[in-house]
Amino acid sequence: MPPETRPAVAVDQARLWERHLEMARIGGTPRGGVNRQALTPEDAQARALLARWGAALGLDASLDPIGNLFLRRPGQDASAPPVLTGSHLDTQPSGGRFDGTYGVLAGLEAIEAIGRVGIETRRPLELVVWTNEEGCRFAPGCMGSRAFAEPGLLDRLLAARDLDGIRVAEALHEVRTALPSTVAPCGLGGPVAAYVEAHIEQGPELEAAGRVIGLVTGIQGRRRILIEVHGEDGHAGTLPRRRRKDALSAAVAMIQALEVLMHDPGDTVRFTVGRVVVSPNAPSVVPGHVLFTIDLRHPEGGTLMRLGDAVETVCRRHVGPCTVSVTDVSLTMPIRFEGLVPDTVRTVSESLGLPSMPIASGAGHDAENLHRVCPTGMLFVPCEGGISHNEAESAKPEDLAAGAQVLARVLVELAGPAGGRRG
Ligand code: GLV
Ligand code: MN
Ligand code: MN
Repeated sequence: MPPETRPAVAVDQARLWERHLEMARIGGTPRGGVNRQALTPEDAQARALLARWGAALGLDASLDPIGNLFLRRPGQDASAPPVLTGSHLDTQPSGGRFDGTYGVLAGLEAIEAIGRVGIETRRPLELVVWTNEEGCRFAPGCMGSRAFAEPGLLDRLLAARDLDGIRVAEALHEVRTALPSTVAPCGLGGPVAAYVEAHIEQGPELEAAGRVIGLVTGIQGRRRILIEVHGEDGHAGTLPRRRRKDALSAAVAMIQALEVLMHDPGDTVRFTVGRVVVSPNAPSVVPGHVLFTIDLRHPEGGTLMRLGDAVETVCRRHVGPCTVSVTDVSLTMPIRFEGLVPDTVRTVSESLGLPSMPIASGAGHDAENLHRVCPTGMLFVPCEGGISHNEAESAKPEDLAAGAQVLARVLVELAGPAGGRRG
């Protein structure tokens, strides 16, 4: 067997699948999904489980100042920047078993397989769990990788609050106490030799094409905007319409007008109002306050900016007797993956008889931030019916294993053979 094929062969489909099932019990929902939001006790428990699995393989755990968890397999050259792989363990409130978790467990499986066949690499390999990828409890999403890529943002990100007013800095306590054996905190920002992230596709294209490996060409841009409508609480029975400052009526008018603004006959624009918080949310009170979120995505930066910039004008036009504030929460421009990592994924997939299919990512990923600091790429595996951010999310054990096989060999290629050239 050629030496470079050995780690792929050592990938254990059953072990990888069982770990998904075990991980899914943490925050598991009655309908078979997972609710494991960022920096909750469940998130901490999931990381602790991963750290135990890692410790059994001799991987040392460490946390950085925003709680990104690193499990390190030493390389022959301790001073060489590591090759990173991983994803996230946090989920949406009605999330599935594979979004994020797959990239973490595929990374663990790949590192275990590399160890089992006795391959030493020149560079260290690090499995990373990024903090708060989903951006549900705390915004913005991809928070941990964002701080890693741009350490100057750390204080601002640590100050972000959830709907109960809890700051990221406070919630990090959960994670720190769940990982008592963690060694001294490591820094942000690298250096990193390369980053490769495996993920389920979260769309239908691979399944429709009957292909197993998606070579991710890039990630579309996205903007998160927060709208707050301020009116006045009032008695539902006594307050005449002409004297009401009904924040919900204004918010509904705004959302309808935004739907018109975002209408796209080509169906490329992705516009979602996913959260509406009505206060006081009581049947007999005219709502005095509404908060809603806009998640806007587009593969072209110019269109993303044009549509996002028009949001405030549209909201002001429909504000009625209320007032409105429009806040840009985050902006990520579209990116493309090119060069070392996608080239390696393509070559390795082909050599394993799993030719890859180029595919653009509609979802956001931590790789979009790593892309700013090191050669970066992603590979996708199919998920059933393209269903994701849904408790019904599913994937085939053999596809998950195939992705881990590719990942294992890609990691060996990127980390270089022990005794290889310096650099
Ligand atoms: C990631 O979960 C996203 O919303 O794209
Ligand atoms: Mn994800
Ligand atoms: Mn997700």
